[in-house]
Amino acid sequence: MTRAAKPVYPANKYLEGVYAPVPDEAVIGLEEMTVEGEVPADLDGIYVRNGPNIRHAPLGNYHRYDGDAMLHAVQFNDGRATYRRKWVETEALMEETAAGRALWGGMLDPRRADRPDMPLKDTANTDVVLHGGKLVTMWYMAGDPYLVDPVSLESLGKADFNGKRTTKISAHSKTDENTGEFVFFAYGRQAPYMHHGVLDGEGDLTAFTPVELPGPRLPHDMWMTHKHTILHDLPLIYDEAAYAQGRVKLRFEADWPTRFGVLARHSAGTDIRWVEFQPCYILHTINAWEDGDWLHMTGCRIHPFEDAQGKPDLQSIVTIMGRHKLRARLYKWSVNLATGATKEGPLDDRWNAEFPTWKNAAMGDRMRYAYCAHIEYEPVITFPGLIKYDLETGASEYFSEGSGYTYSEAPFAPATGGTSEDDGYVVCFVRNADREQSEVHIIDARNFADGPVCKLILPCRVPEGFHATWARGDLI
Ligand SMILES: [Fe+2]
Repeated sequence: MTRAAKPVYPANKYLEGVYAPVPDEAVIGLEEMTVEGEVPADLDGIYVRNGPNIRHAPLGNYHRYDGDAMLHAVQFNDGRATYRRKWVETEALMEETAAGRALWGGMLDPRRADRPDMPLKDTANTDVVLHGGKLVTMWYMAGDPYLVDPVSLESLGKADFNGKRTTKISAHSKTDENTGEFVFFAYGRQAPYMHHGVLDGEGDLTAFTPVELPGPRLPHDMWMTHKHTILHDLPLIYDEAAYAQGRVKLRFEADWPTRFGVLARHSAGTDIRWVEFQPCYILHTINAWEDGDWLHMTGCRIHPFEDAQGKPDLQSIVTIMGRHKLRARLYKWSVNLATGATKEGPLDDRWNAEFPTWKNAAMGDRMRYAYCAHIEYEPVITFPGLIKYDLETGASEYFSEGSGYTYSEAPFAPATGGTSEDDGYVVCFVRNADREQSEVHIIDARNFADGPVCKLILPCRVPEGFHATWARGDLI
């Protein structure tokens, strides 16, 4: 384990408790863990989670989204497990490390006027997927994608798409495990405001096209079927007057529709077909699939607070997104691409459910199962339990070991030789506050409500983070 001098952090609820950053990188073998149960022999691959972990004391007002990317990974093979964690060596972090201090403020601070190439620090801290045998880390504001070795977590530099990358890339660009392709989108403040593209399994750019939006937008995710990408034009935007004064203020344009852009994977952006739904905001999609002329899409739709008359207060979406009061419900949108008919509605109205995962290889199929985190947002965002959803019926199974436990986004790991869609495991980091320890839980997805079949008690903390993936052993 390598140790660095621990910075002195200012008081901030996202630098304390389950969010307190760790000061070091680490490699920990199974012999250094306490194991409850047995690591399943048919679990082969690497669970990787990205998230913010500041390396230098912040210059200004720390925001939860500001920390430097640190990957936490657990490699499983042949009944054994190894935990590793390492910072992603981004351009900004390397500049700061050379200087021995932070050089950028955070999203609540003024932008760096002397760095038009990176006025806000691109941390790459948001998302991670496997493509071409390497991890790709991505940033929610659209930034440089960084490549990382999935086993050692050594940084391999920026992905340059074999010399052809000309845009930043948004978090929640996706890998198609069946074709090996990486389907990406990019958004920004300059017209045409969005791009879409595809890399093949070798990293060659096979499609790249501008997608024209009416103005700058703040999309966070997309859907992908076997044929189409579905891009988001949602009515949450920056207040441009405030932006011109250097302030970040969100606006929700309740009179604008939600628009989903349906684009064949390798087509030009001029061929995109926009479909309108009720105004809303969506952070995270689940699955989309095509059934004849119908295109169906599931996801976690932001769930507004209610006004004095008990009706949804759409303006509360600004508060929800701007002040970490994350509220969402499982929801389904459908459009008939032949007739233009649309349908939409909640699949479940009970759980505040977000950070969804699923079987990667089933993306684009009529997927049956998704695994979400149950969200609480006071005093900070935490995940007090996990939910297994049946996307056909909205039925759910809930699992939590109690109020002392906090879970992470929990990807699905298919069992080696598994047959059914849920033949595998849900893997996640868990903070056990009662025993002041961090654990890795492995839950048999077919017996979800029974809880973990194996727990690995780590000799170190793992702070809360953002998105995770399952890197299949045969794809590494
Ligand atoms: Fe996200």
